[in-house]
Amino acid sequence: MSVAAPLSQTALLIELEPVVARNLDRHLSVAKEWFPHEYVPWSEGRTFDGPLGGEAWSPEDSPIPDVARTALVVNLLTEDNLPSYHHEIATLFGRDGAWGNWVHRWTAEEGRHGTAIRDYLTVARSVDPAALERARMTHMSTGYTNVHGDEVLHSLAYVSFQELATRISHRNTGRASGDPNCEALLARVAADENLHMIFYRNLLGAAFELAPSQAMRAVTDVVLDFQMPGNGIEGFARKSVEIALAGIYDLRQHRDEVVTPVLRQWDVFNLTGLDADGEAAREELARYLDNLEQAASRFEERREARRARLANR
Ligand SMILES: [Fe+2]
Ligand SMILES: [Fe+2]
Repeated sequence: MSVAAPLSQTALLIELEPVVARNLDRHLSVAKEWFPHEYVPWSEGRTFDGPLGGEAWSPEDSPIPDVARTALVVNLLTEDNLPSYHHEIATLFGRDGAWGNWVHRWTAEEGRHGTAIRDYLTVARSVDPAALERARMTHMSTGYTNVHGDEVLHSLAYVSFQELATRISHRNTGRASGDPNCEALLARVAADENLHMIFYRNLLGAAFELAPSQAMRAVTDVVLDFQMPGNGIEGFARKSVEIALAGIYDLRQHRDEVVTPVLRQWDVFNLTGLDADGEAAREELARYLDNLEQAASRFEERREARRARLANR
């Protein structure tokens, strides 16, 4: 086995640039143009209180379940922090060449998500607009920092999982809303997130060919300390328990619908040519996935018991 020196961050960016260019072309050929305004039932809207003297928001304005409101707010605040995400990836990937073209295109697509969801929630009166605005101010004032901010492969691994996690979360939030219009909008947003995931997953797939042990280490580090991008939202721990109890995003989905399928695409458990650290990283990852399996099953059992208790009341 040849033991190559690890590639520097700059070397990784240069080596991966042609892959970025190819995958950006691929992305542009499959991404379908869509319009946020077409997903919002504008004629159902009513003027709010305040300078225009309309009607204040009240929870009865919308029949959607409380947990769907919680998930919608978490998903929207997550999208709202786009300036911070842009800063993080523009700083790491740069704004030139194919990397820069991707950074800008991705930012433009993500910008649509917050706009569309906010318009929808405001017109449909699904959530308290004043509380939402205060939460947005607090959340964006804190900003977002990528924990692996100066490492290309860690960042690519993180966004591969994060885009898929966001896709699942949007899709299941739409279903939980019980509102066909909301579901249609979030399904559309989820389709964007899926293409983002494929882009990043393909890039890290190329990195596995270029520097398998470095890529393996990055994936293991990221899976072991994965946090949703919205984890800085005020009350996130309590909200995420609520969201997990409703089956919108829980450990089972995280393990089986996010982590496992992405790892399978990279074929991490059949890779050859790993050095000692790469092998050690792979073993850590396998142990972690076993623990995650147990934790997911335990959570499901507790949730079932809780549902049975509530049903017997
Ligand atoms: Fe998004
Ligand atoms: Fe995305």
